[in-house]
Amino acid sequence: MCLLRINMAAPSSRSGLLWTLLSRCRTPGPGRTGTGPGRCLSSLPPPPLPPPGTWSSELSRLPHRDLYRLSVTDPDRFWGSAAADRLCWVEPYQQVRDCELSSGRISWFLGGKLNVSVNCLDVHVEKHPDRVALIWERDEPGTEVKVTYRELLETTCRLANTLKSHGVHKGDTVAIYMPVSPIAVAAMLACARIGAVHTVVFAGFSSEALAGRIQDAQCKAVLTCNQGVRGGRLMDLKSTVDAAVKSCPSVQHVFVSQRTDSPTAMGALDVPLEEVMSSQPAICPAEPLDSEDILFLLYTSGSTGKPKGIVHTQAGYLLYASMTHQLVFDHRDGDVFGCMADIGWITGHSYVVYGPLSNGATSVLFESTPVYPNPGRYWETVQRLRISQFYGAPTALRLLLKYDDSWVKKFDRSSLRTLGSVGEPINHEAWHWFHSVVGEGRCPLVDTWWQTETGGVCIAPRPAEKGAPILPAMAMRPFFGIQPVLMDDKGEPISGVSVGGALCISQPWPGMARSIYGDHQRFVDAYFKPYPGFYFSGDGAYRSEDGYYQITGRMDDVINVSGHRLGTAEIEDALDEHPAVPETAVIGIQHDIKGEVPFAFVVLKDGLHDDPLVILQQLRDLVAAKIAKYAVPEHFLVVKRLPKTRSGKIMRRILRKVAMETTGDLGDVSTLDDPSVVKEIVEAHEQYRKQREEEEEKKK
Ligand code: PRX
Repeated sequence: MCLLRINMAAPSSRSGLLWTLLSRCRTPGPGRTGTGPGRCLSSLPPPPLPPPGTWSSELSRLPHRDLYRLSVTDPDRFWGSAAADRLCWVEPYQQVRDCELSSGRISWFLGGKLNVSVNCLDVHVEKHPDRVALIWERDEPGTEVKVTYRELLETTCRLANTLKSHGVHKGDTVAIYMPVSPIAVAAMLACARIGAVHTVVFAGFSSEALAGRIQDAQCKAVLTCNQGVRGGRLMDLKSTVDAAVKSCPSVQHVFVSQRTDSPTAMGALDVPLEEVMSSQPAICPAEPLDSEDILFLLYTSGSTGKPKGIVHTQAGYLLYASMTHQLVFDHRDGDVFGCMADIGWITGHSYVVYGPLSNGATSVLFESTPVYPNPGRYWETVQRLRISQFYGAPTALRLLLKYDDSWVKKFDRSSLRTLGSVGEPINHEAWHWFHSVVGEGRCPLVDTWWQTETGGVCIAPRPAEKGAPILPAMAMRPFFGIQPVLMDDKGEPISGVSVGGALCISQPWPGMARSIYGDHQRFVDAYFKPYPGFYFSGDGAYRSEDGYYQITGRMDDVINVSGHRLGTAEIEDALDEHPAVPETAVIGIQHDIKGEVPFAFVVLKDGLHDDPLVILQQLRDLVAAKIAKYAVPEHFLVVKRLPKTRSGKIMRRILRKVAMETTGDLGDVSTLDDPSVVKEIVEAHEQYRKQREEEEEKKK
């Protein structure tokens, strides 16, 4: 076990750290064997935990099959030794876990204290201060910026001191509305260093969406940039924040970083970040935090209109992000890890920031788009930065495979060792193109299934026995400690193979979410009530003949647009605000590149004199303003009424069939209040389809 103590009085001037290594990876001394992490506290009886050293010296060498078996039959030993060996603790934990899924009680590494920023920075600065931690692949190719672990620690400390000097302390919440950049990563780590809770909001969200999150989390401060730069275009971020904070009385300061030279109008709340940071010390004592103190909130869509603030805590999340990063992607020392995600999503949290940095990796921060300045951008970046692991989204792959393969082949991809896909089902065409064209058929391609709530990858082809097969377009195997269960309609587990059902997980794992911020009951209701005693993912899955898992898609009203999760209820809520619109229903339909897109059925008020086309444009603007541009429905169909059951419930199944033009088999419509509504909607859709075809013709 790695144990650290904070020396508050006498900072180590050599390394610039306040952390003094008291004992690291101690092996049990004579007469003190096998007493586990707790042995260091002499007043406590030795708890029955694995002795430190068991992960690195023993367990990690077991064959995959044995290790997996151990992880599910003796999770205390498995996770206990991994946590003891892999993380640096200020105080050792006393108990590996205390969990009861049916009530949503989930605690890991109880009694332990640590600091996540120390695990991501200080421990590496001790060993290799000049190793590159981040490569900021800026929008303009060839202008990348490298940041070493020492530099990142210093920036983090200056930023942490800036926050503290402006009244932000342990337990306060801070919103980060910044594009992926070293300063954004430092902002996350600075919060972690002082025990503040960060909530990163994707910088494509509108001011109203940002305000809703700030209000829900009661953020005391916001960190932003003057502008964002993406695909050669500038996005004004500061003005979005200005509009948001008007309705957020909890915000005391807005820290503004200068991404571009464009001058920014500064108001009463605004603090110029770089200017203030430069006068702050580059050393900041790290706050020892409880394993279960909150590390961050991340808002994500559910099946109601209100996004959920998913709560992740310190030790369990970090351990899980770290282990999955290393084992799923086969990360080794010296690799350059290229995850293309934005830090506004969980993928960015776990596989741009916390996973790679906890493993001392070099992590790429990709600011641009896959097609800027041309469709070779990803592969030119792989060549220039010598990327070892490339982790991307199917939507980008589907877009790129439409271009000529020469855009890939003209760049040297010999540095690549593992390819990964995340966020949505990857179709066979995209999988094969990624595997054979990009990876030249020699790199394992891992389709990774997981969620904001799971903290890290739960089902993926790796880790597995050497040479174990990887089947195309399948997540396949559960990660250590994950026990997938498929449930039938009656809530009973389905056994056997070649079966499909609701995907649940039967045992807690350290990376899982702990709550929904401010609403624990909603957490219990959403994830643990549908199948008591099990975590319910909201996804359906199929267990193949070989016992591998294939995700079949969401079972609730959540859709996935370009890998971004969206609740259809959120879009409906936005549309319903229009005075001319009494009712709407939004569903998701398949799209070639984006995976899914929203399709809105809209009822307009009777006797309106306004041009419906004008109203539809207003509806588009409304969704962009209330949520984000990517949430704007691709299709709007004006209908006289919606198909409802006698109890008033909208039959979305019918709307899906109409939109997908599969009305041949509508199923049972006998519970509809008035079945003639179906004909009405089918006719309206037919007219809409013809109109679109005509428009397409004209464009040609
Ligand atoms: O439906 C699943 C889909 O994305 C959802 C989770 O979205 P989010 O919390 O935004 O996290 C995305 C990044 C981890 C899941 O419920 N999903 C994620 N990965 C896959 C997937 N669907 C199919 N295959 C995947 N590999």
